Order: sequence, then structure tokens, then C-alpha cells
Amino acid sequence: MTTYEQLLLELQQHPKTWLVTGAAGFIGSNLLETLLKHDQVVIGLDNFATGHQRNLDEVKSLVSTTQWARFRLINGDIRDSNTCEIACKGVNYVLHQAALGSVPRSINDPITSNDTNITGFLNILVAARDAKVDSFTYAASSSTYGDHPALPKVEDTIGKPLSPYAVTKYVNELYAEVFAKTYGFRTIGLRYFNIFGQRQDPKGAYAAVIPKWTAAMIAGDNVSINGDGETSRDFCFIENAVQANLLAAVSKNEARDQIYNVALNNRTSLNQLFSTIKNCLDTHGISYIKSPTYSDFRSGDVRHSQADIQKAASKLGYAPKYTINQGIEKAMPWYINLAKKTNA
Ligand SMILES: NC(=O)c1ccc[n+]([C@@H]2O[C@H](COP(=O)([O-])OP(=O)(O)OC[C@H]3O[C@@H](n4cnc5c(N)ncnc54)[C@H](O)[C@@H]3O)[C@@H](O)[C@H]2O)c1
Repeated sequence: MTTYEQLLLELQQHPKTWLVTGAAGFIGSNLLETLLKHDQVVIGLDNFATGHQRNLDEVKSLVSTTQWARFRLINGDIRDSNTCEIACKGVNYVLHQAALGSVPRSINDPITSNDTNITGFLNILVAARDAKVDSFTYAASSSTYGDHPALPKVEDTIGKPLSPYAVTKYVNELYAEVFAKTYGFRTIGLRYFNIFGQRQDPKGAYAAVIPKWTAAMIAGDNVSINGDGETSRDFCFIENAVQANLLAAVSKNEARDQIYNVALNNRTSLNQLFSTIKNCLDTHGISYIKSPTYSDFRSGDVRHSQADIQKAASKLGYAPKYTINQGIEKAMPWYINLAKKTNA
């Protein structure tokens, strides 16, 4: 089986054309960065609903002028089927990331989440099938495990969804399965477990916990924990998720029409996470002296989450390189810089 390092070398020698939807977002812009750094041709599709031009500007600053010239952005919406058709033309590999994330967002506005995450998904899926792309890899979610209590989470054993967001992500998987049966279009779904790292937005009502707390601690603000702090998650650094996407895109036919967990097989409680971020900030000369406050549990949240990653390891060759601590250390300078820029 090809290792990730071998794959990167092969891609560099034989560049391909990629479509990254959600390219201005957190995961999308990190995929874009790695692909451009390895001389790939990339089409990005984004409507900037939650993505930022600053993410694209940052990628531009990290690659050469020649590499950046291989990128074309379509400022458009996946809810528009015409746009999806145009975006898929001449593409080898699709990495579909565009969606409205966040469980609370979907609880507040299930219709917009449904439109983007289900109608938009179907548009891109149909366009990719019609364009006869070599592979279609999409962002699924650990929320699909819903109320099933088993730990660690194994791909075949899921419960009932706990939020509209979880419904949308499960529907993606169902469509993908039906497209394999009906049209022979075999896709790969990556169930992400709490991905974190550089360019994950710390701002807004729906910010994820790591960027939100880190920004609050840098600013000396209060950190509020939902529940008793013993809720746990399998936090996974972005570069592990990028690896999973690239391996999935080039995977052999027998690894397709499958869903894979993308995580570490590790469990960190919110209380432990608080200490980890605090200690890491300390090493950067930022000392946070407040204790966290505790509030109600959040509706739609599962209590514990931890992934079995055997399937991705054996069928895709997924071998995560970063632990949660290493990921937080690697991303910290980015958070500190962002805070400096924001406060300047
Ligand atoms: N970050 C995580 O921990 C996590 C966990 C599970 C699943 N996911 C999934 O991974 C994907 C990427 O998430 P992210 O964390 O990078 O979020 P993000 O919000 O940073 O990125 C999503 C991108 O999609 C774009 N987008 C949204 N609606 C669009 C539309 N209608 N048309 C075109 N573009 C649109 C946004 O502008 C944004 O740039 C999403 O599908 C999300 O559901 C993420």
C-alpha cells in the first residue's frame, strides 16, 4: 500500500486536477495548501458563507507564485447545480468540504443547513458523476454515531441522529451508498471527529471549542465549559485529516463505496483540553490564571466520542502523524498571530 509520503512524491511527479469545495474554509484551505505545495492544479468552490478571503490570502503567502497560478477560485454556491457542473469539468479528484457545520447552527436554522448540506451535496455528487471524475471524497461526520453509546465508534454501528446537522451528514452517506448501487459511482466518506488547527475560525456563535477557548485565553477572557467538563472528544489535528483525504482520493476501487473514521482513537475530556491549551500558552509566555466556568450541557451534543481508526489504517493506509498535544503546539503560533492582528 502506498504511504502518504510516497503518494505526495507521486502526485508531484504526475500532477492532477482537484476540486476542493469549501476551499476558503478551515479544512478546505488546508487541503488547498498541501495540494498547491505539491504542484497540483486546484479549482476551489466557495460562497464565503463561513469561509474567509484571509484563508486564501494566507495560502497564497505560503506557496510560490507558480504554485498559486495553478489555483482558480469559483465564487459560487453548491446549491446551484449549474455552478457545480462548471466546477467539476476536467477534474480528476473531488474533495467535497463545503457545508454548514455546527450542531447548534442546524438547531437554530435547520432549513439552511438542509439546503446546503443535502441539496448542495446532491448537486455536487450528480455533477461529479456526470463529469466522470476519478474519485469523489466527501466530509462526513462523527455526529452520525448519534445516540449509540458504544466506544470506540466503529463505522458500521451507528445510532439515531441527535441534531438536524447529524441528519444532513447521514443523508450524505445514504446518497453516496445509493449512487454506488444505482450508477456504479463509488465514493469515499470521511467521518471527521473534531478536526482542529490553523485557520479554524475562533469567532462567531458557532466557533469550535479549541479555537474559541484559545482566543479567549489569549485575550484573558472567561472560558465557559458546557456541562461538567467530563464530556470527551477524539480531537484530530488538521494535517491528519489532509492525509486521510489525499489517501482516500487515490484509493483503489475496493476501498471505495465506504465510510472511514478520521480521528486518533484517543479521548480527551474538556477539562483536560482546557489544561492542555493553558499549558501550551504558558510555553509561549502567555499565562492564563482564571478557572473555567461551567454551564448547562448543550442540546444535541453527544457525551463521549472516540473513534476506532483500524478501517482507515488498513484500507487507506491512514497513519495519523500528530497527537492532540503536537497539533495544539503546531497551531498555537497561528492563534497567537491571529489574536495580535485582530487586536492591532
Ligand atoms: N471541523 C470539524 O471538526 C468537522 C467535523 C465533522 C465534519 N466536518 C465537515 O467538514 C467540512 C469542512 O468543515 P470546516 O470545519 O472546514 O468548516 P468551514 O465552515 O471552515 O468550511 C466550510 C466552507 O464551506 C463553504 N460553504 C458553505 N456553504 C456553501 C455553499 N452553499 N456553497 C459553497 N460553499 C459553501 C464555507 O464558506 C466555508 O468556506 C464540512 O462539511 C463540515 O461539516 C468538519
